[in-house]
Amino acid sequence: MTRIDNNAVSVRGLVKHYGDTKALDGVDLDVRQGTVMGVLGPNGAGKTTLVRILSTLLKPDAGEATVAGYDVLRQPRQLRRVIGLTGQYASVDEKLPGWENLYMIGRLLDLPRKDARARADELLERFSLTEAAKRPASTYSGGMRRRLDLAASMIGRPQVLFLDEPTTGLDPRTRNEVWAEVKAMVGDGVTVLLTTQYMEEAEQLASELTVVDRGKVIANGRVEELKAKVGGRTLRVRPVDPLQVRPLADMIDELGITGLAGTTVDGENGTLLVPILSDEQLTAVVGAVTARGITISSISTELPSLDEVFLSLTGHRASAPQDARSADDRQEVAV
Ligand SMILES: Nc1ncnc2c1ncn2[C@@H]1O[C@H](COP(=O)(O)OP(=O)(O)O)[C@@H](O)[C@H]1O
Ligand SMILES: [Mg+2]
Repeated sequence: MTRIDNNAVSVRGLVKHYGDTKALDGVDLDVRQGTVMGVLGPNGAGKTTLVRILSTLLKPDAGEATVAGYDVLRQPRQLRRVIGLTGQYASVDEKLPGWENLYMIGRLLDLPRKDARARADELLERFSLTEAAKRPASTYSGGMRRRLDLAASMIGRPQVLFLDEPTTGLDPRTRNEVWAEVKAMVGDGVTVLLTTQYMEEAEQLASELTVVDRGKVIANGRVEELKAKVGGRTLRVRPVDPLQVRPLADMIDELGITGLAGTTVDGENGTLLVPILSDEQLTAVVGAVTARGITISSISTELPSLDEVFLSLTGHRASAPQDARSADDRQEVAV
């Protein structure tokens, strides 16, 4: 494929079958230089297969792909020199100390000893692991391990970084730490293709999204565009007095805010759910609630779960039903 654009990653008609399973069924994708593309999809959607093909670990059955201008099939050696990869499953050697892991990878990438040493020191510092440098990676916490993985993927100063579900299995705090690191890496100018099962993660890190399901791209666009399609957020309001839920619902419905979908009362939890499409609507609803003088014990916004995104985009539930919404997807808002 000749390079006709400025995209860091360019994919056309990519197909990969495993027997009867169509892991990738004609995928097109472009990632602009210096941006973060989120590839969002449930388990089994084909995300890892895509990353493995783009990092030359796997050959496609059909289609074309380039990374940093290098063809995955014809220029795999040049391609590997300009990418970094962090897999869903960690790649560091448990028995070795963090520093040794990074030094060894540097040497594998043909860095001279002195440079490999300097790079290991620099990246441990960069990912706040200097104090743990001499300890075997097996003694690291989950977050430290993931940071060591990120550091390892950065040794070769990649132009394009593949992060395959970088925070799956991490607790919310550790997930936030990893997000901060990824954001800093993007600030340094690296292009990132990140796969995730979490809408929240995609929203935190990616500027553009490609939603995949059963090997096919079912939607793509900027995060805001996709969210708008899905219907924005849900505002969850809980009055101190559960008897106030119903009057509150009527009051909000009567506000007549243009485009505001109807409220839902969750009687069991004594909460009111208000689907909102914009920050202006959020402000208007919160303002009205406050003006009414009803005492509120909690108020929060929730992003649509991946399942809701799927339902909205495809009309069917994600093939493996799951609840991607977790406690940390709820953001408190000031009243
Ligand atoms: N080595 C393999 N052999 C057979 N089937 C596979 C293999 N790898 C992946 N698959 C199948 O291909 C589909 C896509 O898998 P994968 O790319 O791992 O999805 P994801 O990373 O989105 O969870 C799944 O149905 C999976 O079971
Ligand atoms: Mg995977």
